[in-house]
Amino acid sequence: MKLWGGRFEKSTDFLVNDFNSSIRFDKRMYKQDIKGSIAHAKMLGKCEIIPMEDSELIVKTLGEILEDIENGKVDFLIDAEDIHMNIETILTQRIGEAGKRLHTGRSRNDQVALDIRMYLRDEVNEILQMIKSLCEVLLNLAKENTDTIMPGYTHLQKAQPITLAHHLCAYLEMFKRDTLRLKDCYKRINIMPLGSGALAGTTYPLDREFVAKELGFDSVTLNSLDGVSDRDFVIELSADLSIIMMHLSRFCEELILWNTNEFSFVEMDDSCSTGSSIMPQKKNPDVAELIRGKSGRVYGDLMSILTTMKGIPLAYNKDMQEDKECIFDAVDTIKLCIPVFTKMIDTLTFNKEKMEKGAGGGFTNATDAADYLVRKGIPFREAHEIIGKMVLYATKNNKSLDEFTMNEFKACSDKIEEDIYEAINLNTCVNNRKVIGGPSKTAVEDTIKKSEKFILENF
Ligand code: ARG
Repeated sequence: MKLWGGRFEKSTDFLVNDFNSSIRFDKRMYKQDIKGSIAHAKMLGKCEIIPMEDSELIVKTLGEILEDIENGKVDFLIDAEDIHMNIETILTQRIGEAGKRLHTGRSRNDQVALDIRMYLRDEVNEILQMIKSLCEVLLNLAKENTDTIMPGYTHLQKAQPITLAHHLCAYLEMFKRDTLRLKDCYKRINIMPLGSGALAGTTYPLDREFVAKELGFDSVTLNSLDGVSDRDFVIELSADLSIIMMHLSRFCEELILWNTNEFSFVEMDDSCSTGSSIMPQKKNPDVAELIRGKSGRVYGDLMSILTTMKGIPLAYNKDMQEDKECIFDAVDTIKLCIPVFTKMIDTLTFNKEKMEKGAGGGFTNATDAADYLVRKGIPFREAHEIIGKMVLYATKNNKSLDEFTMNEFKACSDKIEEDIYEAINLNTCVNNRKVIGGPSKTAVEDTIKKSEKFILENF
């Protein structure tokens, strides 16, 4: 018999029963469902909506049910549809009458909104801790590599020399923003919807503030229709997770590239690589590729929730049950990806020589040569032209700018003197870029300090 079976004359078709049931995937919210019910029952007792003995018995029994679930002693039933009715059914089986009073002044519509908020709150906190570890690993690597010169790219063409620390710190900035985004999203998750009822609140004098406080919410929702039908926070979290995946994916793409024989900037550790079943020599960056691949999946989850929500009239509609598999998948995926990514970069070997050598090619010091001429009084646009011609000459003669003889330099501009060699040396190129946010050792060290402070203050 269904908990809602009163007005039905026929039993549910078995196909419909299975189709309608969400217990397969919402059972993971059992803890949140029980904690929410405990707070609701306490409040019902305190407000004299149900007898205090019933309230106490419900609270005690729910605690026991929680323990039994955790010890694997409870089998959920497809027939009981979802986690909310499964728990209520078990409760009523155990304590009869009193159990039947739990759902007073509550609907599954506000109950599920409560559960998903509580569930996602916990997940956001876990993900934040994972991002923290990732940021720490990045910071350590950055600290060790403020002198490791490498080429910086635009259009995947060598552009200007930077350091490995600077490159890593770019990702660190992204993960810092991801952190702030998640923390901001948390504020909108952490609002208590119970009391919204099915859609129009309830006639019982519920103490919503009490329930919010019991469950650690910052405030209560202010419109009952919105309280049961808002899934913005699910969409927002999916978007935040998609952005994190995008960042991880870009980083992975670079590592895959750097790990190629052609680049050889890094070597992935054996523990984080995989082999080929046919080619004995292979050591593949599967981890990085899988993370890159899984980013598509998380975007899919976001698109799926957005699309599901776009045409739903107020308030609750069953379509919204579809939010869960998407957000659970997005959360599970990110929780798989961040730790394995962290391990992968923590165990990378950087080929510093290769990087530095790479920074020397491709005329990465051409901008600095132009800036040199500017310092000698030539307008930048003119300097650009002169150095452009120099590069053309160098390309034809198969040499780099620092291999020019003084005569060759003079032929390009009589403003060029002996100090040009020092001015276009890679080390100078990097370390003269002292501007805030630049790649010089001092600028990067300053950023690192700020990032250390960020970690202390934000996790
Ligand atoms: N399992 C449902 C969900 O996940 C719970 C709410 C169902 N409410 C209803 N009246 N059918 O959304």
